[in-house]
Amino acid sequence: MLRALLSGLGWRGGIWGCTFSSQQPHLPPARLLNATELVSHWTVVFEKRGIPEARESSEYIVAHVLGAKTFQSLRPGLWTQPLTPGQLQYVQELSSYRLQRMPVQYILGEWDFQGLSLKMAPPVFIPRPETEELVEWVLEEVTQGPHVVGAQGGPLILEVGCGSGAISLSLLSKLPQSRVIAVDKGEAAICLAHENAQRLRLQDRIRIIPFDVTLEGSWAHLLPWGPVDLVVSNPPYVFHRDMEKLAPEILSYEDPLALDGGEEGMDIITHILALAPRLLKDSGSIFLEVDSKHPELVGSWLQSQPDLSLNLVAVRRDFCGRLERPGKTQSPGRFPRMHWVPNTGMNKCRRS
Ligand SMILES: C[S@@+](CC[C@H](N)C(=O)[O-])C[C@H]1O[C@@H](n2cnc3c(N)ncnc32)[C@H](O)[C@@H]1O
Repeated sequence: MLRALLSGLGWRGGIWGCTFSSQQPHLPPARLLNATELVSHWTVVFEKRGIPEARESSEYIVAHVLGAKTFQSLRPGLWTQPLTPGQLQYVQELSSYRLQRMPVQYILGEWDFQGLSLKMAPPVFIPRPETEELVEWVLEEVTQGPHVVGAQGGPLILEVGCGSGAISLSLLSKLPQSRVIAVDKGEAAICLAHENAQRLRLQDRIRIIPFDVTLEGSWAHLLPWGPVDLVVSNPPYVFHRDMEKLAPEILSYEDPLALDGGEEGMDIITHILALAPRLLKDSGSIFLEVDSKHPELVGSWLQSQPDLSLNLVAVRRDFCGRLERPGKTQSPGRFPRMHWVPNTGMNKCRRS
């Protein structure tokens, strides 16, 4: 995620395009345009205004107004059919948000993650494609590792920092025997995770709990729900000094608390690592998405915390990084095991 978040390098605060709105200068020509012409029109407007992913943005918006998820999935007849005045107006309205650098996911109000359609609303963190790989890795471990079996035949999973519920809900949807405890500090995140669980009819297997992992002794509140088989998290891990370099889409719309990991990006990570052994079963596992600098930093930190008895067993790079086999160096069996996905990815608009 990190590099992706830095894609707005050079920007230093404020919202690009916020002066937009004067005289509706971007209205397409008066005659009714078809979908293809409209996409071309808005692509040019977005490009001229320096909006990233100009074509993808206009395609998503036009497709959404026509009731499809992607432009390619539109019935071909709709590509050349003129839009109604109401539809044109709606495209205009949504495009004006994009000119104000609002992320497409918030404009559409929903986004796909692991084949699930999730409601999106600012300022709750938008799930990134890289995090789908973290989910896939957890699924691999659960389905291939016989040690990961909870009381009801599937693992009991704790997710710290659930945001919209993307990770928890996709794990639940793929693991019908599993149950999840999903916690987050943000009120908006808790509400949205609830809403998404209901939307996907997964509410019976998930407990969504307001919880701040940094509060002293907070783990005790979770004890009645444990012990858990797995802890999974995509915590805030951006180095504080990098926060101001993030793209306007992120800085202006997403909750900084979802991103800012403190001086070395480790503030929340260390709290999760300190908490996890108290809640994990023996031989349970922790899966974390982190920055590419973190495995080394956390390795040193762990050496100073021998009481945690945590062992790093594998590191995997995300899809934009160098391919690397997971190096399972230690698997003593009786200690919690850690798995890392250091993030080297780009945050492209991508929808299934
Ligand atoms: C990077 S977002 C990940 C959201 C979601 N898991 C995903 O991958 O889309 C990090 C999440 O951690 C939450 N968070 C930040 N600080 C926290 C804390 N001290 N305790 C619990 N959750 C926290 C944020 O509210 C945010 O929802």
